[in-house]
Amino acid sequence: MQVKQFPSIDSWGAAIAELWCARLTAHPTLRMCLPAGHTPTPVYAAMRRAVGDGEASFRQATIYLLDEYGGLHPDDPGRCGNMLRSQLLDGIDLPPRQYVHLNADETNLDPLCRASDQQLERGPLDLAILGIGTNGHLGMNEPGTHPGSLTRRVELHASTIAASARYLDHTDVPTWGVTLGMKALLAAHEVWLLATGPHKADIIARTVHGELGNAVPASLLRGHPNCVVWLDHEAAAGL
Ligand code: PGA
Repeated sequence: MQVKQFPSIDSWGAAIAELWCARLTAHPTLRMCLPAGHTPTPVYAAMRRAVGDGEASFRQATIYLLDEYGGLHPDDPGRCGNMLRSQLLDGIDLPPRQYVHLNADETNLDPLCRASDQQLERGPLDLAILGIGTNGHLGMNEPGTHPGSLTRRVELHASTIAASARYLDHTDVPTWGVTLGMKALLAAHEVWLLATGPHKADIIARTVHGELGNAVPASLLRGHPNCVVWLDHEAAAGL
């Protein structure tokens, strides 16, 4: 696990976007999973600018949505897919058929999850970009998740439910979701874990230096051969 620290969110976002553009240029068919949430917002803004300026293209790439809340209206701006759409997808040149997302509204999710895992077993992700919850979750792989876990429906922990309220303009918070499993994330050729802000400092310290195990799912990335943790100085304060 390689840790990179930056003095500001601007320099942090610019460095991640620069490397992401380089990856897309070297490998235009890049297959990646992307998180929604507040953390990646500056990176996505920089990628939209890069595409607008002709410095990057997603025309041949494939994007998998990392996770999605269940039980929210399809148009709810707090849904992960809707956040990713407004923050990134609407401003880049990704063909719609190359965006893969698990539809949490389906009544029978199991076949969708199996199909997604089979696809990712045939061809692992080139790049998994991940945020981190203050409880150490990756996607919706909550503490206690087995490293071999598959794509599935999950019940959310209380801290994740509370945190989801930040994305919503109402109080009907989701209690479950669908997430790519740890197996697919750990099988990615390259993993970037993104964190900014003082509220992430404690969990980042535990991820990097604490006990390695599924009590903090992000710590499992220490066993990954090609994982970079991208931090601003506030998230790195406990290291
Ligand atoms: P955030 O969410 O980027 O909005 O902090 C991260 C997460 O919970 O995984």
